[in-house]
Amino acid sequence: MRLNKYIAQAGIASRRKADELTKAGNVKVNGIVIREMGYDVKPDDRVEVNGRLLGTSEKPVYIFLNKPKGIITSMSDEQGRPTVADLVQDIPQRIFPVGRLDRDTTGLLLMTNDGELANRLAHPKFHIEKTYRAIVAGVLSEKKQRALRNGVDIGGFVTSPAKVEVVRQTEKSAVVDITIHEGKNRQVRKMFKAVGCPVKELCRTKIGDLYLARLKEGTYRKLTRQEVEYLKGQK
Ligand code: URA
Repeated sequence: MRLNKYIAQAGIASRRKADELTKAGNVKVNGIVIREMGYDVKPDDRVEVNGRLLGTSEKPVYIFLNKPKGIITSMSDEQGRPTVADLVQDIPQRIFPVGRLDRDTTGLLLMTNDGELANRLAHPKFHIEKTYRAIVAGVLSEKKQRALRNGVDIGGFVTSPAKVEVVRQTEKSAVVDITIHEGKNRQVRKMFKAVGCPVKELCRTKIGDLYLARLKEGTYRKLTRQEVEYLKGQK
């Protein structure tokens, strides 16, 4: 939908006024000032006018999706590939994913229409821990575990201390729980690659203290009130 129509439908201004606001630099899409009046608003775009996030009059909704493999963490895909939007179609509100999981990573994905919480959780200052269960190739020796715990170079970036626990080690592979509080692109995969044990399977099992638990892949559940309060209380 064209940006001016989108703004007008939110009850903020007429289309002409919306164009003026856009030209004047008062409109942001996903945190970036957009001056292009013909901008086409995508389903997962977050549009702000004078700092006010549109679409927030909807009832807030918070869900955990257990993302399956092969699904893109986005509300739309130009190439028509399956996205998480396909799995939450029965939710009437305009929700969007908070952070992202790689196409081949499974597990816990928070989705909400609460832009304020999403912005806070996405801020680099915000260090909520995320735990992943990885199946990695090879033997994850004590030395390699120590390297992961202390920080490894993943190409121009040295990771912060991580928690690493080997759940099971066989001759050819290991099951490992790893907890990090940064969110570099493909970080966990790059960390294990850096120590010579590439990831074969990756699943996010926890965000902070909140668990995936027994949620079937491809399904979602609403967060409890306590879980929402917990996320809002993170600093
Ligand atoms: N780290 C990764 O490598 N992939 C993810 O999807 C999340 C964290």
